[in-house]
Amino acid sequence: MKPDYTRICQRLRVLTENIPYETANLANASALLWQNLEDINWAGFYQWIDGILVLGPFQGKPACVKIPMGKGVCGAAAARDVMQLVDNVHEFPGHIACDGASNSEIVIPLHVKGELWGVLDIDSPLYSRFSPEDAAGLVRFAQTLEEILETCSR
Ligand code: SME
Repeated sequence: MKPDYTRICQRLRVLTENIPYETANLANASALLWQNLEDINWAGFYQWIDGILVLGPFQGKPACVKIPMGKGVCGAAAARDVMQLVDNVHEFPGHIACDGASNSEIVIPLHVKGELWGVLDIDSPLYSRFSPEDAAGLVRFAQTLEEILETCSR
């Protein structure tokens, strides 16, 4: 079934309402994606801390903790400040395989107060899992989350 991204964004707003704790909100955001998207094997965040992407709250198998700027799909999204929609991760130069089951991936940069905050990263065991509709819906999810992060303390 196709995910209803409008409803998912509404759920995110309800879950995070009056909650000023960043980690708690990110944990629930990753759980919400995990619960609502089919055929994914990882959903979570890398935070831009001291010049490196550092693993944040997520759902899925344990993942690599540090990703340098420009490395892998996450590092490319952060360095270029552009969403990366990768239909086949094995063809992406420098892809970092945290979970060998991953075959496609989407990474969306997140900003807070006009600065790079980190990235949202979702992996799938299917090739070409993420359609243009998914990309558009997930960008809306990311924008909703950016507004919420503006109100949070780290
Ligand atoms: N595949 C990512 C690394 C993070 S994991 O997918 C959780 C990358 O190439 O940046």
